[in-house]
Amino acid sequence: MIDAVILRRQVEAQGICSFELAAADGTALPPFEPGAHIDVHLDGGLVRQYSLCPLPEFAGRYLIGVLREPGSRGGSVAMHALQAGDGLRIGAPRNHFPLAAGARRSLLFAGGIGITPLLAMAEHLAVRGQVFTLHYCVRSSAHMAFGDRIRDGAIGRNARLHVDDGDAAQKLDLDQALGQPEPATHLYVCGPAGFMDWVLAGARALGWPEAQLHKEYFAAPASADAPEGAFELRLARSGRTLQVPVGMRVIDVLADAGIDVPVSCEQGVCGTCLTRVIDGIPDHRDVFLTEEERSRNDCFTPCCSRALSPQLVVDL
Ligand code: FES
Repeated sequence: MIDAVILRRQVEAQGICSFELAAADGTALPPFEPGAHIDVHLDGGLVRQYSLCPLPEFAGRYLIGVLREPGSRGGSVAMHALQAGDGLRIGAPRNHFPLAAGARRSLLFAGGIGITPLLAMAEHLAVRGQVFTLHYCVRSSAHMAFGDRIRDGAIGRNARLHVDDGDAAQKLDLDQALGQPEPATHLYVCGPAGFMDWVLAGARALGWPEAQLHKEYFAAPASADAPEGAFELRLARSGRTLQVPVGMRVIDVLADAGIDVPVSCEQGVCGTCLTRVIDGIPDHRDVFLTEEERSRNDCFTPCCSRALSPQLVVDL
């Protein structure tokens, strides 16, 4: 955990503010790779993940972009209430969305606030003279964060800006932008779940291999209509057996039994609660694990995932 202070708060677009963060003790914040995020710890025990953007002129400081979400569970509203000079606690950078090594070409698709990790990636690729295209889709030009930095900076030539309410000629033609999959071409997508699912479905329909698709969700897609059965949770280390009823999360059942599993996002995005599964078949409802990791059935995220088998044996 790092004590940080907000040096600058700036409105970047409709509903989006950026925050420039520095260490409270004046030391440099840890370096990070493009695609990395930090946990931000807010009052009331709220923890939220925000992708990092570099501040080229200030190594050792972070820039995060925060969308004030209409359906906020409290995090983005609390963030937007913060001002320059306020302190907050942050975690060290973690990266679940790194650039692939050895890529010959990169396609970056950003929807709305999903621009933050992709902006970091695009600038990193531009500095290294790599081949890439950034497609940035927003509802209107008023919703476009970091527009000047994109248009006027080193990535301007490689950026395609698409505005929903603009003329038809500038709208994203997904099939054309994707093209046929080629070896060593990697796709990265971040934004609202519907946008991401659209881009990924388009790529899969054109035959893009999963290994060349990289994604970062901000929130797990709602799984409200997924069937939700009760099941038994056996804790291998203590030999205890707990019942997980319909409508109750595994982490809550564990907490009631006095077993603390560390959590952060509580929606299957960050992987903090990842727990080893010894037997049984998890019902994976997270967006953290890859398809290959899911199919191994050897771990699950108890903050949101459940069980498909009547019993799940976990390493707790
Ligand atoms: Fe983030 Fe479970 S707490 S995935």
